[in-house]
Amino acid sequence: MKPFNVKTACAVLVVSGTVVAHEGASGIVAERMDAMSEFGDVTQYIGDMFKGRQVMDRDTIGNAARLYIKHGDKIPMQFPDTLHSRTSGNTEALDAIWERREAFDASAREFVARSRELLAAYDRGAELDELKAAFYSVARGCRECHDDFRAAQD
Ligand code: HEC
Repeated sequence: MKPFNVKTACAVLVVSGTVVAHEGASGIVAERMDAMSEFGDVTQYIGDMFKGRQVMDRDTIGNAARLYIKHGDKIPMQFPDTLHSRTSGNTEALDAIWERREAFDASAREFVARSRELLAAYDRGAELDELKAAFYSVARGCRECHDDFRAAQD
């Protein structure tokens, strides 16, 4: 099994489901949906690694941590308070983002902080147990933000 490659996954996404799922999305809305989709794929893959459904590859975790930080830092800018941002492209963004702006930005910052801890654990060669705990802490960060700020999924 080839180690997960973020670039490949991205390319695959562009030609497969994402385009359909994001039909009608443009500009900043499409940008944030694409970034979140990438998060979704990478996170699912690493979860599968820890469940033994994929071959364990530490570097995939390090690369994911860098991606979480890179995209995570941009989240506050990707939700401007404009009509387009609030309503276009079948967005799942809830009004709570703009009604409780500080809480939303704080959630993004907390997510990035946990991602930095994951990267630090990877960089110092932490054991898998520790990497796993750090990874699931990041994954809880995804869920915490979604619970408050993203429309519930069917
Ligand atoms: C600070 C808040 C926040 C964090 C952290 C966050 N998300 Fe999201 N996510 C959102 C919001 C808001 C949306 C809805 C965006 C829209 O539809 O415009 C979303 C949408 C998504 C989507 C749907 C994308 C699409 O339209 O196809 C996926 C998948 C996703 N997030 C996965 C993740 C994963 C995995 C993580 C963690 C690694 C994560 N998100 C972290 C707020 C967050």
